[in-house]
Amino acid sequence: MKRPVLAANWKMNNGPTAAKKFMDAFLATYGRRDDRTVIVFAPSVSVSIVAASIGNRSDVIAGVQNIYWAEKGAFTGETSAAMARDAGARVTLVGHSERRHVFGETDEQCAKKCAAAARGGLSFMLCIGETIEQREAGETERLVKRQLREGLTQTENLISVDFSIAYEPVWAIGTGLTASAADASAIHTVIRSELRDMIGTRANEIPILYGGSVNSTNAASLLRAPEIDGLLVGGASVEASSWLSIAQT
Ligand code: PGA
Repeated sequence: MKRPVLAANWKMNNGPTAAKKFMDAFLATYGRRDDRTVIVFAPSVSVSIVAASIGNRSDVIAGVQNIYWAEKGAFTGETSAAMARDAGARVTLVGHSERRHVFGETDEQCAKKCAAAARGGLSFMLCIGETIEQREAGETERLVKRQLREGLTQTENLISVDFSIAYEPVWAIGTGLTASAADASAIHTVIRSELRDMIGTRANEIPILYGGSVNSTNAASLLRAPEIDGLLVGGASVEASSWLSIAQT
């Protein structure tokens, strides 16, 4: 039986005051569950409030949406893995499509961030996925394999590092268009087999999440697909009531 990962990506929403309200409302209703893991990827300014609300519950984890690869120094505006960890984050997103497409992040930069996360004691969730043009040109498989391989090239001892993958087709993010469970499963199978090629049977333990316009209506059918180990949810995760119904799917 898989233990699904349900991950909320608040994006640029929920500063400390709203984050506290969200966590109070969510945790008041969401009782401890050992059959799934919930992650809340908060903006860095809200990570410590999220972590403090979670306290010592191990079924809910605080995450950060982005880190920089250097350990410290003159990088105004950036947050290192160690700083995020100190604030209470246990995991970071890397290579979210908005980081790639709005901020121009490259595979090489993603690779540095994954490596920095692992060095700094953070798990990472590497996000990969094709644009609509790439899908229509039949490039999806080649593209996700490249993003996967290149994103992981700089992480030492990959075989023993704690990480996960989120497959998020760019055309499905924030658009209301969701990949069907069958379409997503086909790409998850490609990702799993590429991972096996890289790290052998350890690949079977790496959660592969789907993301892109997930909501409380489509979450259950996506999660039922055996190849889909969890969901990464943006818009529908920003309000506690909507997130609660997805986390309880
Ligand atoms: P969405 O975003 O659920 O709003 O489509 C998903 C994501 O960007 O992680």
